Amino acid sequence: MTTGLEGLQADCLQCKKCGLCASRNHVVFGVGNAQAKVMLVGEGPGEHEDLEGEPFVGRGGQLLDKLLAAVDLDRRLNVYITNIVKCRPPKNRDPLPEEQEACLPWLRRQFAVIRPKIVVCLGRVAAMKMIKPDMKITKEHGQFVEKNGVWMMATLHPAALLRNPSQKPGAFEDFLALREKIDELGCDVAR
Ligand code: URA
Repeated sequence: MTTGLEGLQADCLQCKKCGLCASRNHVVFGVGNAQAKVMLVGEGPGEHEDLEGEPFVGRGGQLLDKLLAAVDLDRRLNVYITNIVKCRPPKNRDPLPEEQEACLPWLRRQFAVIRPKIVVCLGRVAAMKMIKPDMKITKEHGQFVEKNGVWMMATLHPAALLRNPSQKPGAFEDFLALREKIDELGCDVAR
């Protein structure tokens, strides 16, 4: 058992706790500032992420970067981004419950090192796992709830925004709410 994010990543890269390890090109551990107080959690790597080893680098990732930039956030500077599962599910299917459970200890340990004050769930899968199992993301996105001293909110998944551009203004509102919460808590590491 190692401490610190780099040691944790080195351990995670060796993980064979579920079947997703068989088809992966890269374990997609996470990206960002380990001092950040804002953590964003997606569902799991897609094709581009699996090839590059970094979360949210496809078209959805470019949209995410724009939403972050609109509220003065940057993936390498003042947030940390990771996923519920660290290896790509075949054909981008939802990660199975047992895959999520097998991978969750990595997220818990990332959480313990980074100790975020705000968590933003990107999409339904992360929201159901981290906020509540019956989360209705289309209704409840943008609403902050406090859980054990951590403020949690879900927003629509960037891939869903690409499929339904009419939902983009709603997602933009969520990022404005995120900026407000960061300012209210005074927890932007880059300001
Ligand atoms: N979708 C996710 O949920 N995570 C990624 O890293 C990429 C796409």
